[in-house]
Amino acid sequence: MIAPHIKELMNNKGSSAIRRMFEEGIALKKQFGEDNVFDFSLGNPDLDPPKEVLEAIKEVSEDISHGAHGYMPNAGYPEVRESMAKKVSLEQGVSVSGKNIVMTVGAASALNCVFKAILSPGDEVLVPSPFFAEYRHYVRNYGGILVEIPSNDDFSINLELLKSKLSSKTAAVLINNPNNPTGKIYSEDDVKALSEILKEHSKKSGRTPYLICDEPYRAITYDGQKVAPAFQFYESSVIVTSFAKDLSLPGERIGYVAVNPKCSDADEFSSAVTFSLRILGCVNSPAFFQKVVAKSWNAKVDYSSYEKRRNLLMKNLDNAGIKYYRPQGAFYLFCKVPDSWNDDDAAFCDHLKKHLILAAPGTGFGGKGWFRLAYCVSEKTIVNSEKAFIAAMNDRS
Ligand SMILES: Cc1ncc(COP(=O)(O)O)c(C=O)c1O
Repeated sequence: MIAPHIKELMNNKGSSAIRRMFEEGIALKKQFGEDNVFDFSLGNPDLDPPKEVLEAIKEVSEDISHGAHGYMPNAGYPEVRESMAKKVSLEQGVSVSGKNIVMTVGAASALNCVFKAILSPGDEVLVPSPFFAEYRHYVRNYGGILVEIPSNDDFSINLELLKSKLSSKTAAVLINNPNNPTGKIYSEDDVKALSEILKEHSKKSGRTPYLICDEPYRAITYDGQKVAPAFQFYESSVIVTSFAKDLSLPGERIGYVAVNPKCSDADEFSSAVTFSLRILGCVNSPAFFQKVVAKSWNAKVDYSSYEKRRNLLMKNLDNAGIKYYRPQGAFYLFCKVPDSWNDDDAAFCDHLKKHLILAAPGTGFGGKGWFRLAYCVSEKTIVNSEKAFIAAMNDRS
């Protein structure tokens, strides 16, 4: 018998909306033709992996030495962890070593391993909303409670509100920078201010919350923006990330956890995350792609095509009269449901679907009255969608 709580979660409309829409999109494309369906539902990168990745795949596949496909230490190949440490050191401006890295099965597994390692039942994880919808599951998986902190109007963190929600139950604050679904990049000043709030809280309460920074979109930024290095501002900080978005490898399930070497329990933290990876049944991160990313993590990728797609889609929305937040990173546009729809994002997404536009309702992300468009699709899809957006806005049926 399937556990009733899993049945309930599976059938929950909001929780599985995006995946369902992705599958509906495939069916609609079969029915109406690839070019006539505008599928903005899923953050599945449209760019091919860069040539450095493709060359590394070739090189790794040529290694037929004994043991090349065997088990390795659960945290990953030592040389791969060292190369990830080099990457994190450059990004964070702090010297990180291989022992501070645990290779994982994408960022999703990195988050699950961290929550498995740190959460006791009833512990809270504070997250600015809107947020990546799967966080609800990842925290609930380990008996934790996700506490949503509605953001300011410009989607910056509401620091005062967050401060007021900190308690002895707070195990962690989770920020996603750049943010999915809004494309917001939290400013360095805000990350510093958040760090100060957490330090003050830990002094007062005796419990130091971890600051978990989910950063799979770190490299995908526009208008010269950069993501702040949290390791410089807060010792109990952790990065969870993957190569799903920046190297266009979401299906290969390759990512890592990096713990700040200055964290008071850094070594125990890495050990607990490694143990969690093992007992959750992942055992270790995929061997082949560990070796691939160790050779290609510093590939020079041109994200200007995403920026171009963002600009094209913003123009379509302007022409259709749809309001949105101008994203600074990632590849999502978070759009306001038109006033006449009374914030009913699910109904408005159903309406868009009638015009063969697939969009994700904002409620699943903790952003009622909004909807998300993932613009990691072909330029042609974006250009051709203009008429459909205009028709949907003119259609009062
Ligand atoms: C904010 C955020 N975190 C984590 C993930 C999971 O990434 P991965 O595919 O590497 O597990 C995603 C995927 O879309 C995401 O958007």
